Amino acid sequence: MLVLGIETSCDETAVSVVGNGEKIYSSVVSSSINFHKRYKGIVPEIASRLHIETISAVLSDALAQAGLGLKRIGLIAVTSKPGLPGSLLVGLCFARALSFAKGIPLLPVDHLKAHLYAAFFSRPRPRFPFIGLVVSGGHTSLFYVKKFSQIKLLGSTQDDACGEAFDKVSSMLGLGYPGGPAIEEMAKNGEAKAFSFNCSNTQEPLNFSFSGIKTALLYKTREEKIGAKKNRGAKIRQKIKVSNLCASFQEAVINALVKKSLLACRLKKTPRLVIGGGVAANNRLRERFFSEARLNGIDIYFSRKEFCTDNAAMVAGMGYNLYKNSHKNKSL
Ligand code: KG4
Ligand code: ZN
Repeated sequence: MLVLGIETSCDETAVSVVGNGEKIYSSVVSSSINFHKRYKGIVPEIASRLHIETISAVLSDALAQAGLGLKRIGLIAVTSKPGLPGSLLVGLCFARALSFAKGIPLLPVDHLKAHLYAAFFSRPRPRFPFIGLVVSGGHTSLFYVKKFSQIKLLGSTQDDACGEAFDKVSSMLGLGYPGGPAIEEMAKNGEAKAFSFNCSNTQEPLNFSFSGIKTALLYKTREEKIGAKKNRGAKIRQKIKVSNLCASFQEAVINALVKKSLLACRLKKTPRLVIGGGVAANNRLRERFFSEARLNGIDIYFSRKEFCTDNAAMVAGMGYNLYKNSHKNKSL
């Protein structure tokens, strides 16, 4: 069965065609990120307007790249939650109109579950049950996944999401938006032990907190007088400091993610961990999870990096999985 996936929960307008939940015929992503950069974060009104302007063209591209027409599509899967309401609405209305006009069944898909599904495009595929960690710009959540239709939330962030913390710290350091890739790049030349940062402890051991470390970093940037520098020597010295701050921050965040994910695996006696969401594209994070999991006898599953950040292939894949497991009568 060919499934058309539609994703518009944040700033990416994405459409994809996926066969039987595994073969990706096309995955087109149009991001409005450049329009948000000057505001150092996503502006919901801009995002929804750009979804309206681009979604038809993105659909045409996705069908053209797949080399087929809507007649061949057996199911439309669309992200229905969570996300920016105005942005979600564009995708939902568009999907509904297509479904109605072409008589194609329609299925709502949860964006976070779709992030976990992304790992199922790679081989070997995870076996159920597994622990799922979603680390994105809006969420940081640990799940126990018995099946995709039986998911239990084990813990989530009490304040900022992990990606949001990367974005805010990047902005404090003048590295721009989105912050994750910028911090990762600076951290490559930094020393992770240069500064001592830690993520705050939480009362519930599987919850996360990133606002404390963000504030600690803010104070450090003041203490270290990070700001505009005029002469070349000062600029070079500052670049070294910023690289060290990035590496130390990134390592502390990864430490918390690794520690809590492995604890969830232990508590649920589940030796499989699937990691999805934009932050999962981070190379250092991937490296650390692989090495720590190996030491603890846990199998780790990531998607390819291009499917960590928002895309519609993961939505189509998740839609197929739910449809196959007889969710076909659920209406939006
Ligand atoms: O999953 P995603 O594309 O969108 C949401 O569902 O939120 O995640 C976007 C987030 C942003 O906060 C971005 O800074 C972060 O993922 N991100 C990264 C990296 N690439 C994207 N964080 C750390 N390292 C990266 N390489
Ligand atoms: Zn996402």
